[in-house]
Amino acid sequence: MAATLDVNGKAVTVQADPATPLLWVLRDELGLTGTKFGCGVAQCGACTVHVDGQPVRSCVTPIEGLAGVKITTIEGLGGAHPLQQAWVKHDVPQCGYCQSGQIMSAAALIEQNKAPSDEQIDEAMSGNICRCGTYQRIRAAIKDAAGLAPTTTAVTGAPHADIDEAITAATGATSRGAGR
Ligand code: FES
Ligand code: FES
Repeated sequence: MAATLDVNGKAVTVQADPATPLLWVLRDELGLTGTKFGCGVAQCGACTVHVDGQPVRSCVTPIEGLAGVKITTIEGLGGAHPLQQAWVKHDVPQCGYCQSGQIMSAAALIEQNKAPSDEQIDEAMSGNICRCGTYQRIRAAIKDAAGLAPTTTAVTGAPHADIDEAITAATGATSRGAGR
């Protein structure tokens, strides 16, 4: 079935069942492979994109109902977004797998909150797992991109442990072992 979507400012027509998760339409139909598959059950954040500016998990978002909304992927940030520059400056990625999802969640945060506190950053980013543990650098990059001074308080680890347990229950694998 044909569906027309607005992806990164362009109208695109795809052939897909309405129940198909947006993630697979982006990757397989449109070749936008910057958005990653991690858990498939809305628990790791690797697949995060924006729908009308809000971060959503594309692995569990069917394309039905997305007509007329603006979908933005990591490719849509253009490469020179202040967060992307800060990510490079702070050398944030390790393996890199989670990072497009991290940046998309961070982009939605600073769009809505120009001066997020450490607690607000941790809350906004708590659904994005990084098995390489880059959380401190992620927070520093977000603060830099927002024009805020860095802080040295520890990043809360508990939310990520909770999510790990949920992924284990749902898939039988921890986020640290999630497939690429
Ligand atoms: S792949 Fe979508 S949240 Fe993990
Ligand atoms: S950089 Fe490796 S999972 Fe985040």
